[in-house]
Amino acid sequence: MKKLEFPNDFLFGGATAANQIEGAYDIDGKTLSLLEMIPFQELEDRKNPSTSKKITKELIMEAIENKNGRHYPKRFGNDFYHRYKEDIKLFKEAGLKIFRMSISWTRIYPNGNDAEPNAKGLEFYRNVFEECKKNGLEIMVTMNHFDIPLWVLQKQLSWDDAELRDAFLKYAKTLLDEFNVYVKYWLPFNEINLFAFMMQTMNGGTEQGDKLKAILNSYNDLHKLVVTQARVIEYAKKYPNIMIGNMVADSTTYPINCDPENVYENLKMEQMKKFFYHDLMVKGEYPGYALRMFKEYGVKINRDPEEDEILKNNPVQFISFSYYMSGTHSKKESELTEGNFIKVGVNPYLKATEWGWQIDPIGLRITLNQYWDRYQIPLFVSENGIGVFETLNENKTVEDDYRIKYLADHFEQMSEAIKDGVKMIGYTMWTPIDLVSAGTNEMSKRYGLIFVDYDDYHKGTGNRFKKKSFEWFKNFMKTKEL
Ligand code: BG6
Repeated sequence: MKKLEFPNDFLFGGATAANQIEGAYDIDGKTLSLLEMIPFQELEDRKNPSTSKKITKELIMEAIENKNGRHYPKRFGNDFYHRYKEDIKLFKEAGLKIFRMSISWTRIYPNGNDAEPNAKGLEFYRNVFEECKKNGLEIMVTMNHFDIPLWVLQKQLSWDDAELRDAFLKYAKTLLDEFNVYVKYWLPFNEINLFAFMMQTMNGGTEQGDKLKAILNSYNDLHKLVVTQARVIEYAKKYPNIMIGNMVADSTTYPINCDPENVYENLKMEQMKKFFYHDLMVKGEYPGYALRMFKEYGVKINRDPEEDEILKNNPVQFISFSYYMSGTHSKKESELTEGNFIKVGVNPYLKATEWGWQIDPIGLRITLNQYWDRYQIPLFVSENGIGVFETLNENKTVEDDYRIKYLADHFEQMSEAIKDGVKMIGYTMWTPIDLVSAGTNEMSKRYGLIFVDYDDYHKGTGNRFKKKSFEWFKNFMKTKEL
């Protein structure tokens, strides 16, 4: 037995996203969003670059008409829209203290330019929040978790367009005005670093072009996104009870060996892939290493002095990040493995999941220490977990000892980081309940403490079953013992 140390008010909980759980894509006034236009693809098709992930005009038309018999998993999620009461009750039973969820923009402003928010949309989230309060759950809300509305694609808008930024601000202000009494922790954009890039490569009507060009263009989108986020923070000052943080997909890498050239290459990699985003949102200005890189690669950012001012005056109040894995980096090409949206170098000291994500709990302690040393503002791990192929056994449960080990090892390293002096306010595992995968659109990649009886085609009863990890987590929440 090992007793872990966490502050009494530490927020242990679970995270989800609207597009991966809600379903009910055409109910109560909701319109479609980007992720609901992506059909399910079997593994072989997913691996084929000519058929995967291109959002073309044709694909959008095909998805709107929906006559092809294809299955669009994010239109169905795990049916949280109809089962939220049952799910929230289970979250309470598991001992969660906080529930991270996102709001679907197209439920609140179905057409973007609607004069008034959709009352049915507001009502749904108010009901969910009431239910959370009734069950003693604190709430964290992501305002946009990748689900860009269809009208944005149809108009081919990017974050460089004021029309999109203004529409988002209107939406964000509505959320803050309506829900500040329920929700203390807010994240304007999920994984803002990946989001900026995703918009460039998946933008409706444009074929995926030159990847490097898309990456370079995405820095301008990122600038507009962080400024928009800063404007949300500025507006939220009228609600002193709430806190607004950022959300960045962590990208920890180690040098492949101690050759100083590799160590330096990895430093550059970590600067641009990891620290850059937090430097920008915590310190409110562009770091020198980024400005140098922009110059060398000819990156153009459409910066306005008023925007720089907004950014400087409205830093995030806490840092949040998703942490699933780590990788390696070297000056030469090295063997690669899959990662959270990007491939990373293989680390021979680490084991990987069935999807190739390398499991590295100590990397979490390292990252927490790095962020605390550099920023000295509270830290929140807003996603962390393990995806596995699972089926129910004859006892209607899943013996997921690997998940128990994954979570226990990461909890232990967080506790060590806290002893190192790191100030952490919370942790939300990905995820308390099985849902549709973001990257591969499948139900088969299961992360939950709770099994959901749906397959990749949304066939099944939808019933919920507690896995072994559910009972383990419940016990851990009482004892904090491993
Ligand atoms: C994060 C996303 O990048 O990773 C989640 O914020 C996502 O939405 C999670 O589900 C795990 O990725 P995947 O592709 O396994 O669902």
